[in-house]
Amino acid sequence: MKKIVTLLTLTVTCVGLYAADATKREIDVVMKEAMKGDTSLHKKVATGKGTPEDAAKLLDYVKSLPAESPPEGDAASWKSKTAKLIEAAQAVADGKPGATQLLQTAGNCKACHSEHKGK
Ligand code: HEC
Repeated sequence: MKKIVTLLTLTVTCVGLYAADATKREIDVVMKEAMKGDTSLHKKVATGKGTPEDAAKLLDYVKSLPAESPPEGDAASWKSKTAKLIEAAQAVADGKPGATQLLQTAGNCKACHSEHKGK
């Protein structure tokens, strides 16, 4: 009986922690909702066509990436690529000059996919 109670407590704690972290998303969700397509949030923000709200939304999306594990590639590379992406999105959100260019580089689809996306 005690075991079952412990297990239940653990389960509830995990679910609780997950729910509390509202910005946590899987990589494929971030890709589909923020990166994919010519009219994506990333595209808008990286070409300077986004509103400040768009930039803040994108920043929120990319911030969930470092905690996720990509299907391929080493952890250090993933950390560095996602950190650069967050830094660039933050710079755009802060209205720093040249930040959209930075975001285009950091958000280079191919450069990241070739190392981390897998098949
Ligand atoms: C920092 C790294 C990184 C960058 C930059 C990046 N991606 Fe991705 N992308 C990934 C990873 C990793 C996956 C694999 C996710 C998985 O399978 O869990 C992925 C998967 C995808 C998928 C498939 C999602 C699905 O349905 O499973 C699409 C579409 C995609 N990316 C679009 C883009 C586009 C478009 C860009 C550029 C504008 C881009 N990504 C930039 C890392 C990145």
